[in-house]
Amino acid sequence: MKHHFFVCTNRRPAHGPKPSCAGNGSEEVLFALRDERERRGLSVDIYITAAGCLGRCPTAGASIVVYPEGVWYTGVTVADVPELVEQHMVNGRVVERLRDSQLR
Ligand code: FES
Repeated sequence: MKHHFFVCTNRRPAHGPKPSCAGNGSEEVLFALRDERERRGLSVDIYITAAGCLGRCPTAGASIVVYPEGVWYTGVTVADVPELVEQHMVNGRVVERLRDSQLR
């Protein structure tokens, strides 16, 4: 295994006091990551797991943490998936613009 992506798919009630990644479309991000992994034949090297709340709860997009490097991403949307796959999943390069600035 080269990288293990944990994608928060926690969902809270709409219009509640705290946002949730699923409410921000994180399930679509999870499916898009898995689709792209399959398309590129990376299933042996890349694990992608749906996770509960990772404690970041962004107001937009998804929280993702990638191990073993321990890189945290925030606000990830489906539009970001191609770059995340090409840069991090395939080439092992962190996508700095998506990185959670509070967890560097
Ligand atoms: S709901 Fe996703 S990090 Fe909390």
